[in-house]
Amino acid sequence: MIIEQLFERAKEASKAAYCPYSGLAVGAAAIDSDNTLHVGCNVENASLGLSMCAERAALFGAIAYKCSKIEAIAVYSSAGPITPCGACRQVMLELAPEAVVYWGDKPVPVRDLLPHPFEAGSLPSSRQ
Ligand code: THU
Repeated sequence: MIIEQLFERAKEASKAAYCPYSGLAVGAAAIDSDNTLHVGCNVENASLGLSMCAERAALFGAIAYKCSKIEAIAVYSSAGPITPCGACRQVMLELAPEAVVYWGDKPVPVRDLLPHPFEAGSLPSSRQ
């Protein structure tokens, strides 16, 4: 799938966003190595901290659908290009560590989005 198509699917997903509080509609589309597409949109809550970003919604859905390796993620927002928030970067590193992320023309590797990460190898149980 070419990047324009991935963006198109992210834009389509953003139309389902539930964002009555921020008014910012975000959609994300992730493609895996089997060419299966996984989409998500942001879903807000009156208890604002419970809101969920589009990127994490897409990745959690991808896991539920037993995705293969996530290769690319496109992020679309109704307000123009936005970069993924910190929480989404952390989740991307866990679930899509080899993916590249597009919010514009240029692919950015997930690892570049989160330098000095806290990850599986940081846990004491993995250091023995
Ligand atoms: N949002 C996302 O969906 N992805 C991001 O990477 C940044 C922010 C959403 C969360 C919230 O619903 C709205 O944008 C405003 O923060």
